[in-house]
Amino acid sequence: MNLIVMGPPGAGKGTQAQILAKRCGLTHLSSGDILRDEVKKQSKLGVDAQSYMVRGALVPDEIMISMILGHALDVCRSGGSFLLDGFPRTVAQAEALDLSFLEEGISIEGIVNFDVDNQTIVRRLTGRMVCPNCKKVYHSQESAPKMAGFCDDCPGVKLLVREDDTEAVVLKRLDVYDKTTRPVLNFYADKRKVVHIDGRLPKDVVARHLEEFTDSLGSSKVF
Ligand code: AP5
Repeated sequence: MNLIVMGPPGAGKGTQAQILAKRCGLTHLSSGDILRDEVKKQSKLGVDAQSYMVRGALVPDEIMISMILGHALDVCRSGGSFLLDGFPRTVAQAEALDLSFLEEGISIEGIVNFDVDNQTIVRRLTGRMVCPNCKKVYHSQESAPKMAGFCDDCPGVKLLVREDDTEAVVLKRLDVYDKTTRPVLNFYADKRKVVHIDGRLPKDVVARHLEEFTDSLGSSKVF
């Protein structure tokens, strides 16, 4: 079962994708995490990508398409299934994904979009902390770690605040989302079913809705 999770920045894609990937045995392919790993290594790709990410702009399609589709094909060729988080984010990325998967005979069983309002998003992202090791996501007030500043699951590992989680950059990311990523939903709406889940609900409730949706999929394919 291959799935795509979509939604604006801070909608809870990463939080829910981690839970779902574990539950369904999927490889979680987060475009943002893959890019941040490249930035950490200071690879050529990472240095190029960082200049876009820090200001809330999208990394160019030609970089993203080959990188993410390459990871997805690797997962499928080794007999696994994936959960795409953060890709596709432009209509060009969605078209490239369709073409590549059609050629490779790969199907996507479900596309889920989390709907969350901008005010909630700004509050969530300006309080977010992430474990650099296991990628678990916390919030300084709403889901704080047991010991301030440290991951609950990785002893001694300090939580990080992302460079692009300042209010100014979050507002820019939301603007980019509206202009460039929201049209991907329209692109899919014309061709196949996208399931919308209210991402403002508590995490466990969102997880339950997602579970109900994946349980209902059976062998149906959306493309
Ligand atoms: P990326 O890392 O993908 O960031 P994003 O899409 O902006 O999404 P986030 O990771 O910020 O949010 P999320 O939806 O995963 O929310 P989370 O679960 O963490 O991309 C970063 C950058 O990389 C982009 O700006 C771009 O430059 C580049 N990039 C990536 N992909 C690209 C692509 N395809 N093309 C071009 N460029 C690309 O939750 C957020 C917070 O809310 C947390 O604190 C969490 O605890 C809390 N929370 C989550 N769910 C709930 C809930 N139900 N109730 C209360 N709090 C909640």
